Amino acid sequence: MASSTLSPSQLCSGKRGIFSPSEAVVVKSARRQTVGNGKGKGKGVRIRCQAGSIPADRVPDMGKRQLMNLLLLGAISLPTAGMIVPYATFFAPPGSGSSTGGTVAKDAVGNDVVAELWLKAHGPGDRTLTQGLKGDPTYLVVEKDRTLATYGINAVCTHLGCVVPWNAAENKFICPCHGSQYNDQGRVVRGPAPLSLALAHCDVDTGKVVFVPWVETDFRTGDAPWWA
Ligand code: FES
Repeated sequence: MASSTLSPSQLCSGKRGIFSPSEAVVVKSARRQTVGNGKGKGKGVRIRCQAGSIPADRVPDMGKRQLMNLLLLGAISLPTAGMIVPYATFFAPPGSGSSTGGTVAKDAVGNDVVAELWLKAHGPGDRTLTQGLKGDPTYLVVEKDRTLATYGINAVCTHLGCVVPWNAAENKFICPCHGSQYNDQGRVVRGPAPLSLALAHCDVDTGKVVFVPWVETDFRTGDAPWWA
């Protein structure tokens, strides 16, 4: 014989409304079955709804339910987004800050390098460190005609990675770690460093100095760029 199981709320619905399931009481003490066609024999349960019902006009309509769902969704998603966005940006590379897709050079205190101001403060032949591509220390070069060179020189030694200082008296970059030397354009002239210092294009975009990756031939050696 087919049978079905009804929930207390289904059993207790009526013309006056729907009884709250929590208020429907299932009484197991009765011995005759009252669920189904009513003709069964033996042990069974008798359902008695004894608590008050919720009037039909007080049952939340679908519009209110959707509003509550939206509020719940907003309450969950806003804090979640607030946590995920900073976490995701931590792994993203720093923004270039340039419309050309390069990286704006930063000075020693982290400010953008403005070409005009830089040239007022740095004379011909000057080589001063800035923060360049991927945060690498990169020399800005001031030419003899008081213009910025079109290249920047990455200061990371190609031997074991020390930052190579500029020696104005020697007109060279001389590494303090193992004595490698590079000429005033960063070309290696003495080992143990095996390669010249890396280059980056140095452009001016809306007044600010911008470094762009150098992927062309190394003009100092005529070779393909080892760093690209
Ligand atoms: S790290 Fe520069 S010479 Fe060794």
